[in-house]
Amino acid sequence: MRIFKKRREDTCAVQSTSCEISKSPFLFATALGVGGASPHRFSPQLALSNGQLIFRASGMKDFRQMKQRGEKITALTAYDYPTARLLDESGIDIILVGDSVGMVVLGYLDTTDVTLDEMLHHTRAAARGVKQALLVADMPIHTYDTPVQAAETARKLVDAGAQAVKLEGGLSHVAQIAAITHAGIPFMAHIGMLPQHVREQGGYRIKGRTQMEVEALLEDARAVEDAGAFSVVLEIVLTDVAKQITNAIRIPTIGIGSGEHCDGQILVTHDLIGLFPWFTPKFVSPEARVAEEIRRAARAFIERTRGTAG
Ligand code: KIV
Repeated sequence: MRIFKKRREDTCAVQSTSCEISKSPFLFATALGVGGASPHRFSPQLALSNGQLIFRASGMKDFRQMKQRGEKITALTAYDYPTARLLDESGIDIILVGDSVGMVVLGYLDTTDVTLDEMLHHTRAAARGVKQALLVADMPIHTYDTPVQAAETARKLVDAGAQAVKLEGGLSHVAQIAAITHAGIPFMAHIGMLPQHVREQGGYRIKGRTQMEVEALLEDARAVEDAGAFSVVLEIVLTDVAKQITNAIRIPTIGIGSGEHCDGQILVTHDLIGLFPWFTPKFVSPEARVAEEIRRAARAFIERTRGTAG
């Protein structure tokens, strides 16, 4: 890896977030000695963009230092090339290819039907649009039931272009998290409300209401930090409990519906931009109404085409 990095620096003379290196990716990859059947297998640093092989700078910032400095971390979801590219160009820190893709793009009832093939497909698409942000991919349910399976799944997502992976679980999954981090793959944890377990949990219920839940959450947060996570998503955790967790660990907490005391915030982009108008979580204040714009544009097109426009 070190040798590879050195060669990369030699080749990319200019210090930029990415640099075009060859019109012939396969030849170039062979020259680097990192060949494989698919360009995605070369390295997470190498990606095809508009038919050209590019080197992507790692979007991994020192998130612990950001926490220490009190700099808020920003994260949004993307599942396709244009959205990922737009978010990346906007300066977002982290782009998550979330398994929320199942609900807001694929039309499933929840995230439990999302497959690894679907996640790989969407991760490849998003990766083509990202130059500066850290691209994290979700590991779907039942793709990390054992530590060996977890490391294999994480590797596949990295081969598809992710720079880090996320799975749902705390103390119960330290063996899986350790397997992933020992494989050298950056890991983001996810505790609190776990959407992959929505059916057993009987809905999207707020966490941290009882002392037992608070203690379990604190234990989860410390366990994922010890297992090597670089950050932890707190999903719909009571504001004061999220604050307590944030103060108890050195890695940043990234909240979703967990109040303003977290070290960063993450949202499903469709919720933020009003692209899934049939349901908006209570904690989201949409910044745009994209669904309405789509309807307006479609109606205008229909009227223009039918000749009924006034
Ligand atoms: O799948 C997803 O989008 C997520 C975020 C809501 C954190 O896990």
